Amino acid sequence: MNVIGRNIGKPSTSANITQRAEALSARLRAVGERAFPPTAQKSLRSFTSGEVAEIVGVSDGYLRQLSIDGLGPTPDLGNGGRRSYSLEQINELRRYLATARPKEAVRFFPQRRSGEKLQVITVANFKGGSAKTTTSVYLAQGLALQGYRVLAIDLDPQASLSAMFGYQPEFDVAENTTLYGAIRYDEERVLMKDVVRPTYFTGISIVPGNLELMEFEHQTPRFMLQNRGKAEDLFFRRVAGAIAQVEDDFDVVVVDCPPQLGFLTMGALNAATGMIVTVHPQMVDVASMSQFLLMTSDLVSVIEEAGGRLDYDFLRFLVTRHDPRDVPEQEIVGLMRDVFGADVMSATAWKSTAIANAGLTKQSLYELTRGAVGRSTYDRAMESINAVNEEVVGLLNQVWQR
Ligand SMILES: Nc1ncnc2c1ncn2[C@@H]1O[C@H](COP(=O)(O)OP(=O)(O)OP(=O)(O)O)[C@@H](O)[C@H]1O
Ligand SMILES: [Mg+2]
Repeated sequence: MNVIGRNIGKPSTSANITQRAEALSARLRAVGERAFPPTAQKSLRSFTSGEVAEIVGVSDGYLRQLSIDGLGPTPDLGNGGRRSYSLEQINELRRYLATARPKEAVRFFPQRRSGEKLQVITVANFKGGSAKTTTSVYLAQGLALQGYRVLAIDLDPQASLSAMFGYQPEFDVAENTTLYGAIRYDEERVLMKDVVRPTYFTGISIVPGNLELMEFEHQTPRFMLQNRGKAEDLFFRRVAGAIAQVEDDFDVVVVDCPPQLGFLTMGALNAATGMIVTVHPQMVDVASMSQFLLMTSDLVSVIEEAGGRLDYDFLRFLVTRHDPRDVPEQEIVGLMRDVFGADVMSATAWKSTAIANAGLTKQSLYELTRGAVGRSTYDRAMESINAVNEEVVGLLNQVWQR
């Protein structure tokens, strides 16, 4: 489209950029549609009885007996009588087991009880590519498979977390449907429940992201100038305030931060009850992490002076994309453990081509079967992912004093 009145016949610079953006967006849409036709909603696979036994923590034989006795959910019977369960059915099984074996109720059905507070885990680091999104996805999905009710919040305008959950930021996420909608300063603000949507992954809801989140970075300084000294409307309390509105619907909130320390990240740091700083063990990444910590501690003092509190139940460093055989990496991880001691998680997220490849098609390994990936590659990656998630569950349990 030409801009009228200026260089008739020749588009202006801004029109030119718009045109290119539109062209690029159309191409992206085509690529996206090839990967996921818009009509084909993402759906979660079913799980074999062997997998279910492992996930729930009972024996396969016991599961078979339950199903023969007609107790608990009725699994689908496939070829050769193989039983498979949907995640809804796994949750039904959990409820059954919690009643049938009340002494182990918490193990089978771990949703929070009254008196146990909502936990908000913020995954942050301003180093790009430190696996924040990957960690958030695997954590959210791992927790959902364990039966927790999870809210995933995408705070990154790039919205890769949303894409992993089947919401393409450009096409599926309309105006005022990101967290910005619930924390904006003007009268267009909506309720948090209006920006929370379900996902194909049972047990996980999401507040998706897209470029509109940037508005918060632009509007906040403006708002602060106009409202100097009004403590009740402080920007860093807004994320926490929005989350508090839907508190009763969830056990754990996982917040995926953008790779920068802007106002959104500060809001997430303030809302967090626990924080995971993801670190890829390269010298430059560790250097930038120390910068992140210095800046965060500056920020904590700013927030505290303004009457806010950053009072974490836990702050842990998670080594990501880790190659344990790489000697320089070993040294860096050793250094981190020396300096931060027990604050570095014992489990590390191993580097795995299976994780990287699954990521390319916007999937996680939980969504794929062993067969689709290759047994040993799959098992190796899952071993490390599960170890990370189990350690986080341990932290949740500590907070809930279980
Ligand atoms: N354990 C792993 N093994 C192999 N590749 C991984 C692993 N974890 C993450 N990756 C890959 O590394 C890249 C960066 O990961 P991710 O997008 O999670 O990082 P990020 O910190 O969220 O990045 P950004 O700062 O851009 O938001 C992705 O291509 C992802 O697939
Ligand atoms: Mg990311």
